[in-house]
Amino acid sequence: MRLRILPVVGVVSLAAAAGVVAVASSSANGLPSYTNGYAKWPRINKKPFTSTDPLSSAHQGVKNVYASRRKVGKRYPNGTVIVKTIQAAGRMGPPGQVAVMRKLNGRWRYVEYGLSGTRYGILAQGQLCQNCHMAARANDYVFTRK
Ligand code: HEC
Repeated sequence: MRLRILPVVGVVSLAAAAGVVAVASSSANGLPSYTNGYAKWPRINKKPFTSTDPLSSAHQGVKNVYASRRKVGKRYPNGTVIVKTIQAAGRMGPPGQVAVMRKLNGRWRYVEYGLSGTRYGILAQGQLCQNCHMAARANDYVFTRK
């Protein structure tokens, strides 16, 4: 999974170097810049997984979860970004969906992106995500643990 994503990251930085205009808060592929390099962050799932749990119906496909920071005690520190990649089984290239949680001022912000052509756009965000992630409150609202 990591190896497949790395070439894409290369293409994106080349595009940026070539002067492709990107909004300040997002990188050339449409994902926010705070997710840059996520494929190199520690993965918090043991191996790529699919899930039949009804709760995970919101995210269907082959999944990996990466965290920019480690938990300190029971909580992830402010500034932590957690990225879940979701790819249709057997598909290569950049993941079709990227779900992101980012902790600011003690609260998680949730946004999910979908790939359309070569760019990501927002699919869903906010309260609807949080409502379901309440079920993982005991683990700081994060379902995945190693
Ligand atoms: C119906 C329940 C449900 C909803 C709604 C939901 N999620 Fe999740 N989410 C899960 C489950 C369950 C997991 C654990 C991994 C898996 O099974 O896919 C998860 C995992 C994640 C992860 C990886 C970290 C973790 O908690 O394991 C991120 C990031 C994430 N979701 C973001 C979002 C975003 C952004 C939205 C809204 C657009 C959202 N989720 C909506 C159930 C939900």
